[in-house]
Amino acid sequence: MTITTHVAPRKLLIGGGSLAKLPALLAELGLARPLVVTDPWMVGSGTVDRLLAPLAAAGVPSKVFSDTVPDPTDTVVDAGVVALREGQFDCLIGFGGGSPMDTAKAIAILAAARPGQRLRDFKVPASADRAALPVICVPTTAGTGSEATRFTIVTDTASDEKMLIAGLGALPLAAVVDYELTFSVPPRVTADTGIDSLAHALEAYVSARANSFSDLYAEAAMRLIAPNLRRAYAAPQDAAARAAMMEGATLAGLAFSNSSVALVHGMSRPIGAHFHVPHGLSNAMLLPAVTAFGLEAGLPRYAAAARVMGLAEAGTPDAAAGQALLRELEALNRELGVPSPRDHGIDAGRYDSLLPLMAEQALASGSPGNNPRVPQAEEIMALYRQVYAGGPVGA
Ligand SMILES: [Fe+2]
Repeated sequence: MTITTHVAPRKLLIGGGSLAKLPALLAELGLARPLVVTDPWMVGSGTVDRLLAPLAAAGVPSKVFSDTVPDPTDTVVDAGVVALREGQFDCLIGFGGGSPMDTAKAIAILAAARPGQRLRDFKVPASADRAALPVICVPTTAGTGSEATRFTIVTDTASDEKMLIAGLGALPLAAVVDYELTFSVPPRVTADTGIDSLAHALEAYVSARANSFSDLYAEAAMRLIAPNLRRAYAAPQDAAARAAMMEGATLAGLAFSNSSVALVHGMSRPIGAHFHVPHGLSNAMLLPAVTAFGLEAGLPRYAAAARVMGLAEAGTPDAAAGQALLRELEALNRELGVPSPRDHGIDAGRYDSLLPLMAEQALASGSPGNNPRVPQAEEIMALYRQVYAGGPVGA
């Protein structure tokens, strides 16, 4: 018998201006002394003041830990635990893109660890179910969906591995999802994070772990993201497009948190870890080729996704709908300026020599095992080689 589980934050505030309600949300949850986890850009640009001002106005004392880095590392998480222990905090607020949110989650998990335990002790297949303090997430991109997931991704600096850490300890208690924070996100980041969201919804939908609950989220996410990604990229001030993308990103997070990601994410993490390619961009580099790889095995689901995304009429046969999906993913990459790994400047020799390790790390994450077509290491290496120079994918 298959048992389906469903997890979600206890409370989500979604909509323009919702950030102003953060103090009331904290009060409702009985929380009064947050440590705000963010990055130097959020502080330097003054963006963090949009979160700190309503807290200060409500008389909520807070401190800021702003040392998070893109692709969060275990060493930054260690420093965050030290900062946490230096004050009398009763919660963490992750403010920013996926990296600050994931750092806040990892700090909460590590702070609850036994003496001597390291963050790597919590990576999958372990289950990270305990957190020292509740985490509230406030995303500023649309996005990783981390505000709604039971996952955090942290790089092990000893091995350059992007560790997937999963469990209730990584599930935020609550989140505030305010699309007005995304108006200043530049087009490149809008594209990368938006394709990441689309990949979450699509992978959750085709995953072996898909279920009726995750399908609802995935379909709603694809319906919002598919017609609005190009609009948000081309017109950053388009409030309707930004709102749709933000809601879609959170829905996509709920989708994969209750299903899983699959081969795209499994292969994407090693590219990010070894070559410091932004997460959404490495997903985008892989999405068409990996979809082509699994298309036949997962055809009914990919075809259904194409229909949900408005790429095929209701009566279109699966084969044609699947082709429409592939062409759309290629068109998105072209129109949103997604480079191949080669055009991104990744050295061919180093890329080639790392392929066996990257394939091993992709498989170890467990994500490829949920793909409609489960690859062997050799097939993963072949896919890495195929995407290196870009170009059209067959099917
Ligand atoms: Fe992702």
